[in-house]
Amino acid sequence: MNYLREVRKQYENYPYPFRDPKDEKKRLLTTEDSFLEKINHYCYAGKQDFNNYRALVAGGGTGSAAIFLAEQLCRRKGSEVVYLDISKKSMEVAQKRAAIRDLDNITWVHGSLLELPELELGTFNYINCVGVLHHLEDHHAGLQALGSVLAEDGCMGIMVYGRNGRTPVYQMQELMRLVNEEEEDMQVKVENTKRLLADLPPSNFFKRSEKEWLSEVEQYGDIGIYDLFLHSHDHGFDVLELYDWVESCGFHLIEFIGSKFESKIGYEPQTFIRHPALLKTIAKLPRPKQQAIAELLSGLIQRHSFYCSRKTKTIARLDDPDDVPFFLNPVPLGIPEMIEKSPGRKISLMSPDQISLQFLPGKHSAAIFRHLDGRRSLKTIFNRVRKEGHGTKVSNSELLEDFRPTYDILSNIGWLLLRHHSVQAFTSAALLQERVGSLRL
Ligand SMILES: C[S@@+](CC[C@H](N)C(=O)[O-])C[C@H]1O[C@@H](n2cnc3c(N)ncnc32)[C@H](O)[C@@H]1O
Repeated sequence: MNYLREVRKQYENYPYPFRDPKDEKKRLLTTEDSFLEKINHYCYAGKQDFNNYRALVAGGGTGSAAIFLAEQLCRRKGSEVVYLDISKKSMEVAQKRAAIRDLDNITWVHGSLLELPELELGTFNYINCVGVLHHLEDHHAGLQALGSVLAEDGCMGIMVYGRNGRTPVYQMQELMRLVNEEEEDMQVKVENTKRLLADLPPSNFFKRSEKEWLSEVEQYGDIGIYDLFLHSHDHGFDVLELYDWVESCGFHLIEFIGSKFESKIGYEPQTFIRHPALLKTIAKLPRPKQQAIAELLSGLIQRHSFYCSRKTKTIARLDDPDDVPFFLNPVPLGIPEMIEKSPGRKISLMSPDQISLQFLPGKHSAAIFRHLDGRRSLKTIFNRVRKEGHGTKVSNSELLEDFRPTYDILSNIGWLLLRHHSVQAFTSAALLQERVGSLRL
C-alpha cells in the first residue's frame, strides 16, 4: 500500500473540497496556479504555446484544477490532462463535473502519486499538486515521485501548508487528538469538534483568530471540519524548510504565487519594514532568509503556493519588445484610468493581499496603457505612443524604462503578465464558461 490508510479513509468519507456537480452549469472555478497565461509567464518566459501539452493533476480531489486545465487545454492541439487520486469518491465527483462540461480530454487514474514511477503514464509538461504533499508520510518521496514523470523543461504548481500561519489550527488539531484519543468513529470526532468549537474560551489561541478560519467550516461543513481539525497527517512548512525540501529534490523555486497575503510581496521584508537601515541589513541576506523574516513578521502565510522546475530564469522579463503585456482577467479596478487622471502623481492601491502599495507611473505610462489591449506587443504599443505624440523621438528602450516601475508593481502582485506575440492569446474564464452554457444538457 503506497499511501496512508487514514488519509485515504478520510477522503473516501469526506471528499474535499465539497463540490456539487450541478454548479458546473453556472460557473467555472479557477485555481490560482492553473491559469495557462500564468504558467506561461512564470515558467516559460512567455513562450509556451500549450499545443501537445500534457498536464498531470496529482491528488486531484473533487476536480477543480483538472477541470480548469482541461477547459483551457481542449482549445489547444493534442493536449490533455491526467487526473490521479487515491480517493474513488473524490474521483467520482470530479468525473461527474467533467461529464456535465462534456470534457473528453481527461484520463482518470485511481492510484497513489507515489506509484507514478511505475504507472507508465508518460511524462508531463506541467504537474499540479495542491494540498496533497503535506499529507504524505514522506514528502520528499512525494516530490521525487512527481519529478520522475516531469519533462526535463516541465514545471509544477504546488501548494503546501504554512506552519507559522497555521499555528492556531495545529493547536486545535493537537487538542482534538487528545479529546478523540479513544474514538474510532469519524462522525463522532466531527461532533466532538463542533461541541468544543461552540464553547471555546476567549483566551484560546484558535478562538482569537477564528474569523480567519471558520469560512472553511461554513463553506464545506463536516468535510471542512475534518480537513481542518481532524486530519491524521498534516505537515506545515516554514519558508526555510520549504526551500530545503524543494532544492534537495532537484528543483528551483521559481516564485510564490498565492493570494491573500501569500503572493510574492507577502514574502518581502520591505512590505512590512519601514526602517531603511534595518532593511539594508536584511537585504544582504540570501533571498530565502529574507522571505523567512517576512513570513515570521506578518504571521499571515497559511499556505505556500509556488511554481518550481529544474530550470532557472524562467520568468518573462520586460525586455523583449515582441512581448505582449496583458491583465490577468478581470482588469483590476481602473488602474489605467487612475494613471490617466493623475499625471505625475503617485498612485496608491490595495493589492489582492490587502497590502497597500504606491508607485509613480512614468510620464508615458498613461499613453502606454491606452494602447495596452492584451493583444498588441510592446513594439506596436510604443509605435502607437510615438504616433500619438506626433512623431516624438522617444526610443523603445526609453519607453521600456519609463514603463518598468509601473509594470514591476503590477506584475509583482500578479495582475500584469507577459506573453510572447507568437503565442495565441488566452481565453478568459468567463468565455470558457460560455461553451458550457451552449451545451444541451
Ligand atoms: C486536500 S485534498 C486537495 C484536492 C485538490 N488538489 C484541491 O486542491 O482541490 C487532498 C487530496 O489528495 C489526495 N491524496 C492524498 N494522498 C495521495 C496520494 N498518495 N496519491 C494521490 N492522491 C492523494 C486525497 O485523496 C485528496 O483528494
